[in-house]
Amino acid sequence: MWNCREDWLIIFIYVLSVFPLVCFSANFVPIDNYLIDCGSHTNTSIGSNLNFTSDTFFKNFLSTQEDILANTTLKSINSTTDFSPLYQTARIFISSSKYTFPINKKGRHWIRLYFFPFSYQNYNLSAANFAVTTEHNILLSSFSVPKKNPVMKEYLVNVTLDTLVITFTPSNNSTAFVNAIEVVSVPDDLIADDAIALNPRREYTGLLTDAFETVFRLNMGGPSVSSSVDPLHRTWVPDTSFLIQPNLATNFSSIGAVKYAKGGATENIAPPSVYGTLTEMNSDGDPRSNFNVTWKFDVEPGFQYLVRLHFCDIVSKGLNELYFNVYITSLLAAKDLDIGEKTHNTLATPYFMDFVTTPSVDNKILVSIGPSDVNSDYPNAILNGLEIMKMNNSISSLSASAAVSLPSSHGSKSKKVGVIVGVSLGIFCALVAMVGGFFVLRKRRRQLAQQGDSKTWVPLSDGTSHTMGSKYSNATTASAASNFGYRFPFAVVQEATNNFDESWVIGVGGFGKVYKGELSDGTKVACKRGNPRSHQGLAEFRTEIEMLSQFRHRHLVSLIGYCDERNEMILIYEYMENGTVKSHLYGSGLPSLSWKERLEICIGAARGLHYLHTGYAKAVIHRDVKSANILLDENLMAKVADFGLSKTGPEIDQTHVSTAVKGSFGYLDPEYFRRQQLTEKSDVYSFGVVLLEVLCARPVIDPSLPRERVNLAEWAMKWQKKGELARIVDPTLAGKIRPDSLRKFAETAEKCLADFGVDRPSMGDVLWNLEYALQLQEAVVKGDPEENSTNMIGELCPQINNFEQEPSVSVEQSEASSLDDLSGVSMSKVFSQLVKSEGR
Ligand SMILES: *[C@@H]1O[C@H](CO)[C@@H](O)[C@H](O)[C@H]1NC(C)=O
Ligand SMILES: *[C@@H]1O[C@H](CO)[C@@H](O)[C@H](O)[C@H]1NC(C)=O
Repeated sequence: MWNCREDWLIIFIYVLSVFPLVCFSANFVPIDNYLIDCGSHTNTSIGSNLNFTSDTFFKNFLSTQEDILANTTLKSINSTTDFSPLYQTARIFISSSKYTFPINKKGRHWIRLYFFPFSYQNYNLSAANFAVTTEHNILLSSFSVPKKNPVMKEYLVNVTLDTLVITFTPSNNSTAFVNAIEVVSVPDDLIADDAIALNPRREYTGLLTDAFETVFRLNMGGPSVSSSVDPLHRTWVPDTSFLIQPNLATNFSSIGAVKYAKGGATENIAPPSVYGTLTEMNSDGDPRSNFNVTWKFDVEPGFQYLVRLHFCDIVSKGLNELYFNVYITSLLAAKDLDIGEKTHNTLATPYFMDFVTTPSVDNKILVSIGPSDVNSDYPNAILNGLEIMKMNNSISSLSASAAVSLPSSHGSKSKKVGVIVGVSLGIFCALVAMVGGFFVLRKRRRQLAQQGDSKTWVPLSDGTSHTMGSKYSNATTASAASNFGYRFPFAVVQEATNNFDESWVIGVGGFGKVYKGELSDGTKVACKRGNPRSHQGLAEFRTEIEMLSQFRHRHLVSLIGYCDERNEMILIYEYMENGTVKSHLYGSGLPSLSWKERLEICIGAARGLHYLHTGYAKAVIHRDVKSANILLDENLMAKVADFGLSKTGPEIDQTHVSTAVKGSFGYLDPEYFRRQQLTEKSDVYSFGVVLLEVLCARPVIDPSLPRERVNLAEWAMKWQKKGELARIVDPTLAGKIRPDSLRKFAETAEKCLADFGVDRPSMGDVLWNLEYALQLQEAVVKGDPEENSTNMIGELCPQINNFEQEPSVSVEQSEASSLDDLSGVSMSKVFSQLVKSEGR
C-alpha cells in the first residue's frame, strides 16, 4: 500500500519538517510524528516547535469522496483563551472517510483530535454528529460539539499494525469534521502493564493492550503547563476548580528543587513544572489538623479509569518527615505513604503511582489526601499532579454515551400503555387459543412488535466466567452494571452485517430479523434488528441491557452489545454456529444427533434455566422455553436464548397473577393458561415438552397429523402412561438408547408435564435426572437397572439429597454466590415483571 515512491518522499519531507522538534525535547524523539492541519491550504506552526502540515499535502493518506475545506476567521470566535490557529480550518466529510498513517514504530501513540464547530457555507458544524474509529478502537460515537468551544480529544492507543487508520463516519444524514489530527509515538514505558486495582484491591495487568482517553490532567498547585513545555506535548491544567473545599488546601512550589533520579519518574512522565508545584493541607501550623483535601471529578460510568498520582516531596526538610494517606473514591489507595522511602531515600525526587478504579454510583471519582497516624506532629499531605484516563471497555470502545443517560425511572404513562396493550393482548391470545389458532402465533408476535411493544428484547449476557462476576461484584452495583452496556455505532453494525444483507439473515421473528455478522476483529455475531421503536421504548431498552446483562452463564447466550443510533434497536449477541436445537431435530435436513449429544444439549439448557431460576436472589422466569430458543455453539453446547421474550407483559403482582398469557403454543403450561399463575414451574412444563421434542424429533404441534397425534405432549404422554413411549422415539435413535436411560428420561419429561406446578420437579431436579440418564446411557453407573431409579439416585449420588435443601450449594455454587452481591440492585419496572416477587 505504501510502496509508492511519492508516498515515501512525502513522509521524508514530512519528517524533515518536524525535525526542529528534536532540539527542544532531548528526552524523547517520536519516530512517528504526524501533525496534520485539516482543511488548510498551508502548513501551520504552533509555538516554536510544532509544525502542522496541511492535509492537502497529505492527500495520499486521506481517502474521502469529498473535498470540502472549510475555514473561518478569528473574528467569528468568541473564546480567545486557548484558541489555536488550527481551529480556523476544518475538513468536512459527508461519507465515511479515512486518514491512513504509516507506522514506523509499533507501540503506543497519541491520537489527538481537534474540533471546533463553526459554520461554513451550508454546513453548521455544531450540528455534525459522527463516529471516529481506528482499526482497533471506537474513539467516539454519536459525537458532536454543540457549543462554540474548541475541543481537543486525546487518546493513547497501542498500534500493532503497519498503519493506523482513523475513520470518520457521519451519523445518518449528518456530517463529520475535524480541524487537526496528531498521531505521535509515545515512549512505551509511559504506562506500564500493571497497576493496583481498587475495590477489591489487587494487581491489575494488561494495561499495555488497553486504549486510553485522557479525561483530566492536572498540575497541582501551579499554573497550566502548555503542550510546548511538556516533552510529550501534554497540557496540564490547574487543580483549584476541582477542589471540594479550596480553603482546606494551599500551594507550594519549588521547580528548581526537582531532581529526577533512578527509581522515580522520568521527565517524560511529567515535566519539572508539574513535579515542582503541589497542593498540600492548609493546616496553618496547627498540629491537630486532621482533614482531607479532596478533588472531585465527573466521569462517564461504565468504564474503568486509570488514576495516576504524581508526587514529589519538595516540602520536607529531611527524610521520613512526611507520611500521609491517599484515598480514591473513599478507598484507601496508599497508607502512610513516604515518598522519600519510595525513591530510595531521596528528597524531591518525582514519583508516581497508578491505580485502576471505577466511578462511584453518582459517576464521580474523588481523590483525597490526608494525614497518616504515623506522624501527628506535622500533619500534612501533598499531591503534585494527577491524571485520570478512561480505559476502553471489553469491546475496545471508549465511547458508550448510553451509559451516561440511563433513565432512573420509567414514566407512568408508558407503564399504563404497557398494561393496556398487555390486557388486550391477553384477550386476543385467549381468542386465538380457543379457535385453535396456533397458526396465528407468529403473526401475533409480529403484531405485538408493530404496536410499538417491541420490547421483546431481553438481552442476556453470559460470560462464561465467574471471573467476570467476581471482577465486578465488589464494585458499586451501578457501575458494575454499566460495565456491560456496550454501545455499537450503527456504522459498525452495518459493516458487520454487510449492510443488513438479506442473504445474511439467519432468523426471522416478530421483532424483526436476525443477521449473521462479523466484527472487524473477526468476531462472529448475531445481530437482531428490531422494528423501529417508539420513543418510550428507548428508555426501557437501555435499562434492560443494563440490568439483564448481569445474568452471566455459559449456558445463556451472551450479549455483546447493542446499537440505538438512528432510532435503531439492535442487539448483538455471540454467534451460535450450530443454530437452534429445533433445526437439528426436524425439518432442516441436518444430520441427526446421537442420543448422547441430545442428552448433553438438554443438560446444558437445563443448567441455563436452573441458573435463571436460582442463580439470582429472585427467580427469573423465562416464559418462552422452546427448542427454537435453545441455541448450539460450534461444539454443540446448548445456550438458552431469547430470555423473557414477552417481558413488557402486564404486571405480575404478589400472587403472580398475570393477565395475559405469553409464550409459544404447544409449550404452554396448562396451569398458567388456566389460572394465569406464573411460576418457574411454567418453564419446567415447557422444558418437558422440549424433552419430548428431542426424543421424538417432531414438531410439538403438527396439524397435518391425525387428530390424536397433533399435540406432541398429549400423544407422548398417552404412550408413556402405557409404558410404551419407546414406540414413538425418533427412528434414527432406534436401538441406540439404553432402556434405563430412556426410562429415566421419559419419567423426567412426564414429571415436568404434570398438570399442577406443585407436582413438577424443580429445574435442579430435572438437571440431575438428565445427568443420571446420561450416566445410564454411558453405563457409568453400576447397579440393578431394574431397581427403582429414584432410590438409585439417592444411593449413588448422595449430593442429590443435599441439593433438595440447598440448591445453590451443590450446583454451580460459584455463579450463585457471585450474584448474591448484585441482589441489591434496584430492578427496573420492566425487569421486575420477570422476577418472582418473593425471595427464595
Ligand atoms: C479522609 O477520607 C477517607 C475516605 O473518605 C476517610 O476514611 C477518612 O476518615 C478521611 N480522613 C479525615 C481525617 O477526614
Ligand atoms: C481493551 O481492549 C482490548 C482489546 O483491544 C482488550 O483486550 C482489553 O481487555 C480491553 N480493556 C478492558 C479494560 O476491557
